[in-house]
Amino acid sequence: MNLSQQSWRQWVWPLVVSFGLLFMVNGCAMFEDEETAKGRKIYRHYCMHCHGESGKQGEGFNWDSLSNMEFPPPKDLSDSSMADSIADEDIFNAISREMKDTADPKVVDDVDYFGVATMPTFKYTLSEMEIWSLVRYVRSLHGGDFTFDVNARRQQLEAELESATQELETATQALEAAEEKRDEEIEAAEAAAEAAGDEDFEAEEIELPEEEIMTQAAIKHKKAKLAFESFAKRPKMTVSRPDLTVSDEERAELEKTGKHLYFNKYGCNSCHSLEGQGGLVGPELDRAGFRLNDTWVYKWLMYPQGIKKHTRMPNLGFDDQDARAVTAYLGTLRAPKPDKSIDSAVSE
Ligand code: HEC
Ligand code: HEC
Repeated sequence: MNLSQQSWRQWVWPLVVSFGLLFMVNGCAMFEDEETAKGRKIYRHYCMHCHGESGKQGEGFNWDSLSNMEFPPPKDLSDSSMADSIADEDIFNAISREMKDTADPKVVDDVDYFGVATMPTFKYTLSEMEIWSLVRYVRSLHGGDFTFDVNARRQQLEAELESATQELETATQALEAAEEKRDEEIEAAEAAAEAAGDEDFEAEEIELPEEEIMTQAAIKHKKAKLAFESFAKRPKMTVSRPDLTVSDEERAELEKTGKHLYFNKYGCNSCHSLEGQGGLVGPELDRAGFRLNDTWVYKWLMYPQGIKKHTRMPNLGFDDQDARAVTAYLGTLRAPKPDKSIDSAVSE
């Protein structure tokens, strides 16, 4: 958007009103508990542009761009009927969830899943405690009580990690014992073959069921560890450099999938615009294919915070495949340079 094209009057009043609101809100903050205050701070950084500071519709600068999309625009979070109609856990689940393909009938039919692509997830950006403090803040917006027992939740995650650790230990021991037994049997069979003069004898490869149990236990343990660790601390990742070379056919397929994911799974258009359509939180992406390099885009999508710690773009929980597809799609965005000649400016 070109600010100079807007009349200054349009900007002065919102500014005056914002300062007034800021003053009122900071006045109220004196009565706020520490956790809610934390929630307010995070909300102002990551949520306010779409939901408005007070949660009212039409207040955030990005609200208007969301009101003409295929998903509903943000609800009024300050509506007092929310106090009874929605539980703390529901608010949590809307903020912290996996992004799923909202065109998939299974996702559409799942009543327990909050399937709105234009509401990003913060599961991979914030710690669980921070998300609970956001829930507290949202509660304060509509005057509802926050009753969720956060401490019990921490204990639950701790207990889950403990039992997963135990399970992994047991599975490791069982596998070691099974391997030892197998090796002894092989040795015995080889000795018997040698005694019988069978020179071509080769022991059969035996698959141990304990291996699969061990793999499962390791996966479960890794998940439990991540859940426990990201309770108090923001999730961290390392992204290794991808090899993005593909054949032309593969690329065409990736670009198609990437476009679908852009709109239906990750709701990138809620923050970025293409041809003037879409959100205003991030830069327009019409020329992303010229400006940005594939490897950089891939890494940015996988873990934006690894490149810019406090960026407002959340980590949306990409896996390798989806990141490759969306990277390929962004590579196709090669709109011509906007015409900045005097003629076109005058004719507008
Ligand atoms: C890019 C815009 C955008 C951002 C950023 C955003 N939201 Fe949303 N939010 C939406 C949209 C769109 C919806 C879906 C419409 C709806 O049901 O309210 C939504 C829904 C919600 C809901 C669910 C209300 C319901 O329907 O049950 C909650 C709670 C919520 N957002 C909280 C947050 C919080 C907290 C943050 C910041 C951590 C945040 N949102 C950031 C756009 C956004
Ligand atoms: C909640 C808003 C939000 C969502 C959702 C979001 N982005 Fe962003 N994005 C941003 C912001 C803000 C920046 C600017 C980065 C910065 O400086 O912090 C950005 C930057 C980028 C950039 C770098 C642009 C440049 O010119 O440097 C790319 C590429 C990008 N986003 C792609 C995506 C894609 C693809 C998606 C969907 C998978 C997506 N974004 C979802 C907010 C968002």
